[in-house]
Amino acid sequence: MERTFVMVKPDGVQRGLIAEIIGRLEKKGYKLIGLKMLTLTPETAALHYAEHAGKPFYPGLISFITSGPVVAMVWEGKNAVKGVRTLMGITNPTEAIPGSIRGDYGIDMGRNVVHGSDSPVSAQREIAIYFKEEELVDYQRDMDKWIY
Ligand code: TYD
Ligand code: MG
Repeated sequence: MERTFVMVKPDGVQRGLIAEIIGRLEKKGYKLIGLKMLTLTPETAALHYAEHAGKPFYPGLISFITSGPVVAMVWEGKNAVKGVRTLMGITNPTEAIPGSIRGDYGIDMGRNVVHGSDSPVSAQREIAIYFKEEELVDYQRDMDKWIY
């Protein structure tokens, strides 16, 4: 099973979308194996978004992502990285299709509600920023035989 890192961004928390986002991933069939609420330090934000350092939107991105609490999560499932990206919708909420999280809840690129890893390699890197291996929960769900 593949793991992916998901974050409800500060706008999602402020707008009361934590349960909505968790609910969509949960109902799809992914398994929640790690969860914490925190406010990112600039150092953690810089680690998370290292690939974007130097880009024009980077300063605004760092100030936004550190502006309030976020919900950091690890979800597990078959092809979870790609599947969660599909549920999230594309980066620009104006173009994200209705039915996706960003398509349903976002308008502005800089306020797109949710983060999800873009590849299994990114997922591994991002999970390690936020979670120690022992903070991730290993458990079976009986319902999984109805999902797979
Ligand atoms: P990116 O990793 O390209 O998107 P995604 O979140 O879909 O993986 O960019 C990270 C975040 O940076 C993105 O969610 C919103 C913000 N951003 C901007 O504000 N302007 C931009 O032009 C881009 C590309 C991203
Ligand atoms: Mg990205």
